Amino acid sequence: MGSSSGEGEPLASSNSGYDWDAFDSEAYLDHYYREPHPDDVDLARRTAAAIAAAPPAGAALDIIDVGTGPNLFPWLCALPRARSLTAWEYSRQNVDWLREELAGDELRPLWRYYWDVVSPGHVPDENPVAAIAAIARVEQASIFDLPKAQWDLATMFFCAESITRSEAEFASACRALAEAVRPGGTLVAAFLDQSRGYVVADRPFPALPVDADAIRAAFHPYVGDISVEPIGGSEAETHSGYTGSLFMVARTR
Ligand SMILES: C[S@@+](CC[C@H](N)C(=O)[O-])C[C@H]1O[C@@H](n2cnc3c(N)ncnc32)[C@H](O)[C@@H]1O
Repeated sequence: MGSSSGEGEPLASSNSGYDWDAFDSEAYLDHYYREPHPDDVDLARRTAAAIAAAPPAGAALDIIDVGTGPNLFPWLCALPRARSLTAWEYSRQNVDWLREELAGDELRPLWRYYWDVVSPGHVPDENPVAAIAAIARVEQASIFDLPKAQWDLATMFFCAESITRSEAEFASACRALAEAVRPGGTLVAAFLDQSRGYVVADRPFPALPVDADAIRAAFHPYVGDISVEPIGGSEAETHSGYTGSLFMVARTR
C-alpha cells in the first residue's frame, strides 16, 4: 500500500478526510475475514482470555467495542462477561451492517467458527447472536466523541491507528478510549503493526505506522499496567495493509 490514491493525489492525513460512509462492509469482511486467519484466531483467543480475566472477577461488565466495523468477534469474545454491549462505530454502512447482522436468525459459518474458538463447551445449537442482540446497542458516533467513564471494559481492533495518518489524532483516539473506561477498568486492543494504509473495494483508507513503543506512549498517562505483544508478523502483506499486529491489555488508572 503506497501513500497516494493511485491518481497522484496525496492521501489525507486526517480522519475527516475520508468518506467513512463509503466503507464497503461486505468487501472488507470478504477480504479480511472470509477465511479465519491464524493471527485472528490467536487474537480472538487472547481477547477472550483477557476479558475473562478482567476485574472484578466474575462480575458482569458494561463493555464497549470502538470502531467495530463489520466484525462480530469482539462481541463473541465479550458475551460471557457482558451485562451490556455497545458498538461505537462511525460509518453509516458499518452501523447498518451491524444492525442487520444482529437481526438475522442464522449465524454465519465464520462467526460459528470464532464462537467455537472463544467459547469451548457451549451448547452446539445455541445462537449467540440472539443473546448479543438482547443486550447490545449500536451507536453511530466517533471515537473522538466518546463520553468519559461509562464502561468497565473497552475493546478496540484496528481503529485508532487505522482511521488517520496523524500522530495527534492517534494519541487523542487512544486517550478517548482510555477515558471512556472507569478507573480500574480494562482495555483490550489490537493495532496494525507498522501499516501505512489499506484498500477496501479499491478505496484507500489511512493508517499511521505504529510500534509497541508508540502504543505504550499513547496510553501511558491513562493506564497503570500495560502489556503489548506481537501477533504473527511477516515481511510481506498477507492482506491489504497487514503484516502482523500488536495486542494490548491495559488497566485504567
Ligand atoms: C480498519 S477498520 C476495523 C474494523 C474492525 N474493528 C476490525 O477489527 O476489522 C476501522 C474502523 O474504524 C471505523 N472508524 C473510522 N473513523 C472512526 C471514528 N472517527 N470513530 C470511530 N470509528 C471510526 C471505520 O468505519 C471502520 O469500521
